[in-house]
Amino acid sequence: MSSTKTISIPLVGLLLFLCCWTSTAKAAAEKEYYVKYKDPKQPISARIKDLMGRMTLEEKIGQMIQLDRENMTAEIMRDYKIGSLLSAGGSVPRFKATALDWINMFNTFQNGSLSTRLGIPMIYGIDAVHGHNNVYKATIFPHNIGLGATRDKELVKKIGIATALEIRATGINYAFAPCIAVCRDPRWGRCYESYSEDPEIVSEMTDIIYGLQGDIPQNIPKGIPFVGGKDKVAACAKHFVGDGGTIKGIDENNTVIDWHGLLSIHMPAYYQSIIKGVSTIMVSYSSWNGKKMHANRNLVTGFLKKTLKFKGFVISDWQGIDKITYPVHSNYSYSVFAGVHAGIDMIMVPYNYTEFIDILTDHVNNKRIPMSRINDAVSRILRVKFSMGLFENPWADQTFVDKLGSQGHRDLAREAVRKSLVLLKNGKNADSPLLPLPKNTSKILVAGTHANNLGYQCGGWTMTWQGLSGNNHTAGTTILSAIAAAVDPNTEIVYSENPDSELVESNNFSYAIVAVGEHPYAEMYGDSQNLTIAEPGPNVINNVCGKVKCVVLIVSGRPLVIEPHVGSIDALVAAWLPGTEGHGVADVLFGDYGFTGKLPRTWFKTLDQLPMNVGDPHYDPLYPFGYGLSTNPIQSS
Ligand code: GLC
Repeated sequence: MSSTKTISIPLVGLLLFLCCWTSTAKAAAEKEYYVKYKDPKQPISARIKDLMGRMTLEEKIGQMIQLDRENMTAEIMRDYKIGSLLSAGGSVPRFKATALDWINMFNTFQNGSLSTRLGIPMIYGIDAVHGHNNVYKATIFPHNIGLGATRDKELVKKIGIATALEIRATGINYAFAPCIAVCRDPRWGRCYESYSEDPEIVSEMTDIIYGLQGDIPQNIPKGIPFVGGKDKVAACAKHFVGDGGTIKGIDENNTVIDWHGLLSIHMPAYYQSIIKGVSTIMVSYSSWNGKKMHANRNLVTGFLKKTLKFKGFVISDWQGIDKITYPVHSNYSYSVFAGVHAGIDMIMVPYNYTEFIDILTDHVNNKRIPMSRINDAVSRILRVKFSMGLFENPWADQTFVDKLGSQGHRDLAREAVRKSLVLLKNGKNADSPLLPLPKNTSKILVAGTHANNLGYQCGGWTMTWQGLSGNNHTAGTTILSAIAAAVDPNTEIVYSENPDSELVESNNFSYAIVAVGEHPYAEMYGDSQNLTIAEPGPNVINNVCGKVKCVVLIVSGRPLVIEPHVGSIDALVAAWLPGTEGHGVADVLFGDYGFTGKLPRTWFKTLDQLPMNVGDPHYDPLYPFGYGLSTNPIQSS
């Protein structure tokens, strides 16, 4: 046997061994570097299962926490595995922050999340409830009550598309919108966040979800959370359920109504939102028949998750679990237990994360909260994060920066303003209408607290939580500026916030435009038991109308006491809270477009009638639900 042959057999064996070892090692190495949950080709359910199987309890609880950006650092995000942040109203990187400031802030925090062992990206929420309203120079659209007056769900979807682009322009990927409250009493401080007193209109307006999140592709079954790409954001239907039905409109209070009433008035828009693929649902501070919604397992788990088959995640409101007890936060261990047990998946803590983590960990370790509840919460959160492509595109970038406050979006907002205004009276008798107003005349008076105040015309949830007064907080067009741009250059405009009788009588005004209404407010700060026009509004109406032909614009979040003044007013317009694009007001005042808006809610005669909604017995309003006069546009010569 030749030495060669002897040597060749071991050599062949060695080569075979090396070959097998290499391919095995290579396969093992590939297997090690192949992480299923990071593979976008895998089905979302497989990615969730793989990731969940890798997560510790600490990592799971971190995903259930949402903190405010204030005092936050990348290190906290990393060390506590925090899964979500938010900007509360007015919580901004800096005063008049630019899109780049927001992008840099977002990426700093995202870097913290991606530096964790499993690298789960964070989701960042903000109240973009009438445009990207926290952000300097963003387009501010009419608040929801005005959009309800348009009855135009296509328009509202386009507003969702524009808003999603402006949110992404700042790198943010989640909006706490739409509010689908059905406000049943205008004394509620959040009534302007409600599209209507009519559940059908509110349900139709949930088409904004298609705008914010994207149209659901054919291959994705209805009811599955869907966010279609980097120009879209996760949406949030809020506040589940019955937030708009509280006693006397007292914010966060008790909604006393039977099961049929809750289902028929306050629930339909949630059903529609789920069908339209809404990714998240926020729980209401309010109670239903005395049971706090944040502790209501029957409704959150039993009905929303099991009966309506909602597959996204349920988020609490700001310190919503703290408010389960009175005084607030007086028994946080119980609050954490009750909220998580009810079925809340993500808790808007938003500051005391170590306390929350310690307590929830203790509840799980002592089996008060089963691991199955934690797994349900985390798998829902991961489903949303996977479905919106967050693992593939976790970073903010400058792709959409030029969309922030773009002219195209402002034109869309101007169209929304036009369509939202409701003409309630036009002339002291039908054959002498005052509107549309002539652009070419000698001298006109523009008066009132709301004619030259961008902050007032935007209302709450604008630049800050409660809104502001004045014209230098963001970019937009006041009603006065829009009037000046619309009239003939030879028409003299006299402007006075609070004209006295002498000014009115000593000038020969062709007509007067009076803009009055409410000062900005949000949530409980807007609760009102008297619904009056802010002073000196009534005085301005008294000094102007009756002496000169006047059109009065009510700039407010809801119907106000106006009946005593109607006789002296020639034309009356409900302008709601139009936002930054005041040109839309002038467009219909001067006939470039006709009035088309219809009341989305009943306009009462007197306060003692409240609550009064369409369909009620003894329905005797000043202007009924659905009312609105039309005018024809003046054909340009
Ligand atoms: C507020 C509101 C809710 C908002 C949240 C975050 O209290 O109730 O609508 O989304 O906190 O700002």
